[in-house]
Amino acid sequence: MEFVNDWIARDVSSIWHGFTQMSVYPEQEPIIVERAEGHYLVDVEGRRYFDAVSSLWANTIGHCDPEMNEAIIEQLRKLAHATLLGNGSVAAIEAAEALKEVVPVEDARFVFASDGASAVEQAIKIAYQFHRNLGEPRRKRILALTDAYHGDTLGAVSVGGRTFYTEIFSELCFEPIRTPGYRDPGWAEKAVEAIDKHCQELAALILEPVVQAAGGMWIAREGDVSRVISAAQEAGVLVIADEVATGFGRCGAWFASDLAGARPDIMCLGKGITGGYLPMSATACSRRVWEAFLGEDLGPRTFYHGHTYGGNALAAAAAKRHLAIVRERAVLENVRRQSDLAGKLLRGLAEQSARVRDVRLKGLMGGIELAQASKGSAGRRVAAACVRRGVFVRPLGDVLVFMPPLTVTEEEVESVVATMAQAIEDVEREGW
Ligand SMILES: Cc1ncc(COP(=O)(O)O)c(C=O)c1O
Repeated sequence: MEFVNDWIARDVSSIWHGFTQMSVYPEQEPIIVERAEGHYLVDVEGRRYFDAVSSLWANTIGHCDPEMNEAIIEQLRKLAHATLLGNGSVAAIEAAEALKEVVPVEDARFVFASDGASAVEQAIKIAYQFHRNLGEPRRKRILALTDAYHGDTLGAVSVGGRTFYTEIFSELCFEPIRTPGYRDPGWAEKAVEAIDKHCQELAALILEPVVQAAGGMWIAREGDVSRVISAAQEAGVLVIADEVATGFGRCGAWFASDLAGARPDIMCLGKGITGGYLPMSATACSRRVWEAFLGEDLGPRTFYHGHTYGGNALAAAAAKRHLAIVRERAVLENVRRQSDLAGKLLRGLAEQSARVRDVRLKGLMGGIELAQASKGSAGRRVAAACVRRGVFVRPLGDVLVFMPPLTVTEEEVESVVATMAQAIEDVEREGW
């Protein structure tokens, strides 16, 4: 096989990439990143790419930020990692205290892990055990939405929407009660009906507040989200808000739950929690949830769950510094300003190109739905054309994702949308 460069040859001989067909990976001209500067990734050939997917929706304030780097280095001089199982660390305590100030969960307690999916697994287990601890074992089912995505571990796949890549694992998963996702305008009524019908057996409702991201960037009205959350809480059903993708400013508020005026019982955090610098996730639980686990030592009320690197000190230091930077640099204000501009430009793109079926945007979380191509996948081909033009994007099927860093400038928003328009024309010329 011919390789574009030696790095790709070395890559395929030792790495198995997720969500990637390795038999064709080398031909798809992958970027091999060597370093990054601000909003740009730089590859081994020295080419620069604007990081329009924020390194899988995690990066918030740009790469290699001197203050973030310094916070991590300073922590490294003290402690890289110490376990949180049965013990504590200064760095983890300080991060949890800082998170508590912004997370809209009542008097929150944080169970730390490293990936978003782990935060979801923890949330499901906590919700299930909560009702057992309170002597209500009948409440054991989870209400989940179609088109949801909560991660790739089996519990998270169980509550995610069924799709071509999860179907194969159906027998390994548990079956939630499922109601339609946000693309159905009647989703909220149907969710409320299901809550009424199953209120005696439901342990929890899990949803991505306001934006169902990986399922295709479907956006709900905030009032609908708030109505469904209230219905669940009034029926004694715990609400798990999966804010792994929507949290930390992505939607123009600290959390999408804030937009809906909701206070979930459990919240899953990940991705932007460290600004995209180090792996960290957390399951925030309300005081009421946490109290249901208090009991005798080694007793059955204990939450017997923990991940080795949960609360890692370097990640904790990054999380704490990141929260301060988001405030100091007025990042949420920038998200709202750039979102207004992006909305205007993306709507213009939809008017101008017959190949754009729909644009959906909340804060700096956007999807551009393309018309199906007659050859190959339109999303893949347009994304590849963007990359050739120096803008790094990844599609979700035929939905081109617009997910720039939250400190993106006006010029960069204009340039990304202009590049997308040119990339659509490139594919048009090759024959859609
Ligand atoms: C809403 C949501 N939950 C959970 C996850 C899983 O996070 P991770 O990939 O860190 O396991 C994702 C990832 O995209 C997500 O969008």
